[in-house]
Amino acid sequence: MSRLVVRHLSQLATPQGKAARTGAAQGRISRVEDAALVCEDGRISWIGTDADFVAAHGDAPRADDVVLDGRGKTALPGFVDPHTHIPWAGYRESEFNERLKGKTYAEIAAAGGGIVSTVAATRAASVEELAAVTGERLDRMLLHGTTFCEAKTGYGLDLASERKQLAALKAAAAGHPVGVVATALPGHEVPLERRGSEAQKARYVAECCDEILPALAADGARFVDVFCEHGVFDLAESRRILEAGKAVGLAPRLHADELTPLGGARLAAEVGALSADHLLFAQPDGIHAMAKAGVVATLLPGTSVFLRMNRYAPAREMVASGVAVALGTDCNPGSSYTESLPAVAFFATIGMGLTVEEALTAMTLNAAASVGEAARRGTLEPGKAGDVVLVDGRNLEHLVYHYGVNPVTDVVVAGSQVVRDGRRIRA
Ligand code: NIG
Ligand code: FE
Repeated sequence: MSRLVVRHLSQLATPQGKAARTGAAQGRISRVEDAALVCEDGRISWIGTDADFVAAHGDAPRADDVVLDGRGKTALPGFVDPHTHIPWAGYRESEFNERLKGKTYAEIAAAGGGIVSTVAATRAASVEELAAVTGERLDRMLLHGTTFCEAKTGYGLDLASERKQLAALKAAAAGHPVGVVATALPGHEVPLERRGSEAQKARYVAECCDEILPALAADGARFVDVFCEHGVFDLAESRRILEAGKAVGLAPRLHADELTPLGGARLAAEVGALSADHLLFAQPDGIHAMAKAGVVATLLPGTSVFLRMNRYAPAREMVASGVAVALGTDCNPGSSYTESLPAVAFFATIGMGLTVEEALTAMTLNAAASVGEAARRGTLEPGKAGDVVLVDGRNLEHLVYHYGVNPVTDVVVAGSQVVRDGRRIRA
């Protein structure tokens, strides 16, 4: 197989290791100036200075080498987006404007908007229509440097529609450069037809546990998630759904303490979740429990901004407490419509006070840990996946410093270039 060689990089910047980085280590980034990188057989095989490359491999390319010119650019690990909701139909741009006119996310949902309006549109869409829009979202993710992502169901909320969402996701991901791992989220909301009484809601929780989760696990989902929130699923219901997921082989993760301090962070620790997500209202005891249990905090600051929450998850306290912080887009039509992790990194630095180095670890190695992939991806080190992003700029800072534009020029997935000069190319 041919080699892919990147020469004359202004800088190569990466976290290191095969597990999430916590505390001061989250900000520890290896930087190589005037660097080179080699991928072989889909993996990274060599990294060093360009001078060392010449000493080890000679200056002349091999006949079948693919050579990228890294001048003026910085190489980073392919970004990992550990929290998205991409298989959905319909848009909710009117809610965006309603919030600007003073309504809250919860008020809009109570008035019939919110998740259930996307459920109606998603139920009405064919699997082909859903796969098409999901594929477009994967394309945009790739152009913004994401090479691996997690994606949830949760806009079906019945057996057939949840399975349709997962089928659409699988169809969109088949042959797509972005690697996808699926999460079963029938516990995203109570569907309209199961509202009105506690008995009806209990019936839906039972359906999730006994029918929908086993079916989604059999269809290939790897995780189970719940929207654990006041007015949605309480702690006991969330625990039940997560345990039912575990029983059919799904690893738990959780929408926790997003809008109110319900105690989701602690629940995530108690059920052995890989990740607890959002966490705007996480309390010190929950943060401590997460640190002790090794639960990754997947933070979604784009959602804080989009919902005009006037607060962010306490990222600095988390880092100080030894919790691994990851970053995701939460890409969805209601609370965060973006495929761009660089945009999220901007909010994470300016809004939550992460350093650029901490943000890089959060969107690569720690994000990979959030989805159980840290041994295989998330760093530029020999043996890891050949997933590489080139950013326009002479050092890592340009990832965030040049905000509001897409800083990604080139993307390599499994050792093959798939984006060149900001455009998708096909082999
Ligand atoms: O992560 N919190 C629940 N789910 C999404 C929002 C989904 C929607 O509004 O459609 C979230 O913010
Ligand atoms: Fe979400």
